[in-house]
Amino acid sequence: MLKSALIVLFISFIMGMTACGAVSSTATITLAATAEPELIVTEVVSAEPIGDAERGQQIFTRGLDEAPPCSTCHVQSGLETRMFQLAPSLISVGERAATRIEGMNAEEYLHHSIVAPSEYVVSGYRAMMYGNYADHFSDKDIADLVAYLLTL
Ligand code: HEC
Repeated sequence: MLKSALIVLFISFIMGMTACGAVSSTATITLAATAEPELIVTEVVSAEPIGDAERGQQIFTRGLDEAPPCSTCHVQSGLETRMFQLAPSLISVGERAATRIEGMNAEEYLHHSIVAPSEYVVSGYRAMMYGNYADHFSDKDIADLVAYLLTL
């Protein structure tokens, strides 16, 4: 409904323009086509649960529902570069996340790496991450964690 209303608006707008001779009718088609994907993207984004980074940090350091805290293995002290590391540093992980698995954006990859950690193993590390977070965390818990990871 909204889409067709917009197209009608577009057409009447463009017709006004062509009446004045400002835009050709070929230009009309291009404009109407580029308007559509924008509408679709807005709808998808607003359907995602909105993450609370502060709560995500609490889950990261304290754990939840008897699942081990992320900080058991992921140390964010700044000292980690000089020590043996069981797990990779998550500093700036949001930037790397978008490049890890083709077709996944940063949020999707981070979500995936919590619920299915062994499907992508960071080079230089072993698949030793706790694998049952999906049984303990709700979608909201994971969205909160992802929001926190994106602030690191
Ligand atoms: C038992 C240790 C352990 C725990 C607990 C753990 N991790 Fe991990 N994590 C790892 C290891 C080891 C890797 C690297 C191997 C891999 O990619 O699976 C990793 C990889 C990751 C990655 C991928 C990083 C990248 O650069 O691609 C993310 C993101 C991550 N962990 C987030 C979390 C979060 C969030 C939690 C808590 C909900 C958590 N981890 C709990 C050990 C752990």
